[in-house]
Amino acid sequence: MKIDAPIGIFDSGIGGVIIAKEITMQMPNENIIYFGDTMNMPYGEKSKDFIIKNSIKIVSFFLKKKCKAIVIACNSVTSNALEEIKKKFNRKFIIFNVIEPIVKNKILLTSNRIGIIATPATIRSNFYVKEINKYYHHLDIIQVSAPLLAPMIEKGIEIIKIKNIIKNYLNNLKSIDTLLLACTHYLFFKKEIENLYYGRVHIHIIDIQKIVVQEIKKILKEKKLYSTTTSSSYHHKKLEIFYTSTFIPCFFKKKIYTLFGKDILFKRYVFN
Ligand code: DGL
Repeated sequence: MKIDAPIGIFDSGIGGVIIAKEITMQMPNENIIYFGDTMNMPYGEKSKDFIIKNSIKIVSFFLKKKCKAIVIACNSVTSNALEEIKKKFNRKFIIFNVIEPIVKNKILLTSNRIGIIATPATIRSNFYVKEINKYYHHLDIIQVSAPLLAPMIEKGIEIIKIKNIIKNYLNNLKSIDTLLLACTHYLFFKKEIENLYYGRVHIHIIDIQKIVVQEIKKILKEKKLYSTTTSSSYHHKKLEIFYTSTFIPCFFKKKIYTLFGKDILFKRYVFN
């Protein structure tokens, strides 16, 4: 594995971009290739088998791109397909995901009742409950499935229009002290969700992307794969190649440009 090889990041669509952005901030010399499987979004509505099959195609694509690591920037994939992905690709590169670093983080030690809002596929898997129970026995866990949210965020619907839908979902998470936005799409609205609680109760909304990327950085350093200099052997620097499985609308591109600047190459890639 080469230190200046890219990191492959994927999600069903735009959600994982929040993780990619955090990587460019905490690890500015890493090269990133992003893949958003927009053709098959929402993953939250798909079966476990479908999610496994599709993720394997995406991870194989990153293997061809000679990535040194991949980041599963999707809770639905992590909770349904992590085991299979690890089984198949463990020796090929380092595999990161957005759930294990959060569950292992001692941040949960100070919580008593944690609310998890996620896609139907993530809730159905019960992955969070199983993982949390491995490390903690004091935590009450309440989960709510939010089927409408990720597709609306993907379509670029503004927060103002979906605020009530979010509120309704959150109403199911009574008396929690910690909230996990367990779908990367929701991370776009973390501030707005915080504002919904402001002045009423104190709820700690976990900073998923920070914790996930701290873990990636730590492991890459340990494995001597953390890039400290910009390399010339790869054409893509930071996030410059953005693959999606459909053509993407203007607002989507605009969002990416706003987050990463203009030097991004958008490419469409469809699996057979
Ligand atoms: N962003 C994905 C997640 O973290 C899911 C969105 C979808 O349903 O496709 O679960």
